[in-house]
Amino acid sequence: MKLKIVATQKEVVLGHEELIISKTDLKGRITYVNRTFMRLANFSEQEVLGQQHNIVRHPDMPRGTFKLLWDTLQQGREFFGYVKNMTADGDYYWVFANVTPDLDARGKHVGYFSVRRRPGKEAIAVIEPLYREMLAVEKAAGVANAPAASVDFLNKKLQGMGTTYDRFILSL
Ligand SMILES: Cc1cc2nc3c(=O)[nH]c(=O)nc-3n(C[C@H](O)[C@H](O)[C@H](O)COP(=O)(O)O)c2cc1C
Repeated sequence: MKLKIVATQKEVVLGHEELIISKTDLKGRITYVNRTFMRLANFSEQEVLGQQHNIVRHPDMPRGTFKLLWDTLQQGREFFGYVKNMTADGDYYWVFANVTPDLDARGKHVGYFSVRRRPGKEAIAVIEPLYREMLAVEKAAGVANAPAASVDFLNKKLQGMGTTYDRFILSL
C-alpha cells in the first residue's frame, strides 16, 4: 500500500560516486534495496520489501514515463530515464535510472533490476519542463487516457526534433 506522504520542496542529493539499487519481482514489488536507497529515501528494509515500487513515486512524475518504462521492459528491452522520487519525509531526489530484466542463475526471468545514479543539472533543466508539459497533457486527457496521451505527446515532440526517446535520453 502506498503511504500518504505530503511532498515538500526540499531536495536531497545522491553523492557523485553513489548508486541506488533495487530489485523487484515481475509485478514491480520490491525484493531488494541497497543501503544507499534506504539512506536517501529514508525507508527501512522492512518498510519497502514486498511493497510496490511506487512507494517512492513523486506526484510531479508524469504517468507517461512509467508507461514507457513498463512497455519497454515488456518488450524485453532495457529502460533509461530520469525520475524524480519522493522520500519517506516527502523530500525529493532526482535520479538517472537504468532498468533491466533480472535473471536468476538458470537464466529464468524473475523480475527487474534498477541502478540509479546522480543526474547532471543540465539534464534535469531539460527534463523538468518536459515532465511539466506531459503532466499538463495528462490532466487535459483525463485519468483513463493520461498515460497514452502523454507518451503520444512525447513521441510527437521527439519526432519533431528528429530523434527517438532512447537517443534523446542518452544525449542529455
Ligand atoms: C525495477 C523497477 C524500479 C522502479 N523504480 C521506480 C522508482 O524509483 N520510482 C518510481 O516512482 N517508480 C519506479 N518504478 C515504477 C513503479 O513500478 C510504478 O510503475 C510507478 O511508480 C508508477 O506507479 P503508479 O502507476 O501507481 O502511479 C520501478 C519499476 C521497476 C520494475
